[in-house]
Amino acid sequence: MERLDKILVTEGLGSRKEVHKIILSKRVRIDGVVITKPDYKVDSERCEIMLDGQVLNVKKHVYIMLNKPAGYVSATEDNLNRTVMELVPKELYRKGLFPAGRLDKDTEGLMIITDDGDFAHKLTSPKNHVFKTYYAELDKTPTQEDIDSFESGMILEDGTRLLPAKLAVLGKNKARVFICEGKFHQVKKMFAARGMRVQYLKREKIGGLELDSDLPKGSCRELTKSDKDVIFLVK
Ligand code: URA
Repeated sequence: MERLDKILVTEGLGSRKEVHKIILSKRVRIDGVVITKPDYKVDSERCEIMLDGQVLNVKKHVYIMLNKPAGYVSATEDNLNRTVMELVPKELYRKGLFPAGRLDKDTEGLMIITDDGDFAHKLTSPKNHVFKTYYAELDKTPTQEDIDSFESGMILEDGTRLLPAKLAVLGKNKARVFICEGKFHQVKKMFAARGMRVQYLKREKIGGLELDSDLPKGSCRELTKSDKDVIFLVK
């Protein structure tokens, strides 16, 4: 349950003061009944909210797919660098948005930005085995031993034990990596542990959700319901 005034502010109908005016002037109905109390508690998932006779399509949370370009950090604020939040267009922006999982500044590709903490946790927690798929260009071509090492659950130089990962060689110096955890610089560290350097890295998929090939670098679009479902369908 959320306060009516807060819902209307989140929907972009104005400042708190402005939406109070709207509510007090009897322009808002909930399930057909005029409501004049700004602090009226509403379950926006179940109730129909109308403004001036038009139904408001109130969404509790926002889920955004970003095609992250290199040069942006995965943070909500940063004193030195541009952040991925700067790429969220005004019409999708709302308070409380954050990147669900990190990509390095020089990594490109699929990133999800949301204001739903539970969803982000589900996506990033290794317990849920949501595999993230990365395309990597390297200074060498991985060998069968490298594939086996990824598969067996590597131990990094700092002693961190990783969950089993998959490595597929795509051609000379090119590979695809599948991991279900997101430790800091994980893919780069895994290749480094095998004596290779990552020269280019792009996240292609999160679970079953693929980066939209029509989405230009630096652009965002909202996730559909089926996009959200498919993340957790394919493991
Ligand atoms: N692993 C990395 O090393 N970097 C990323 O950005 C993502 C995974």
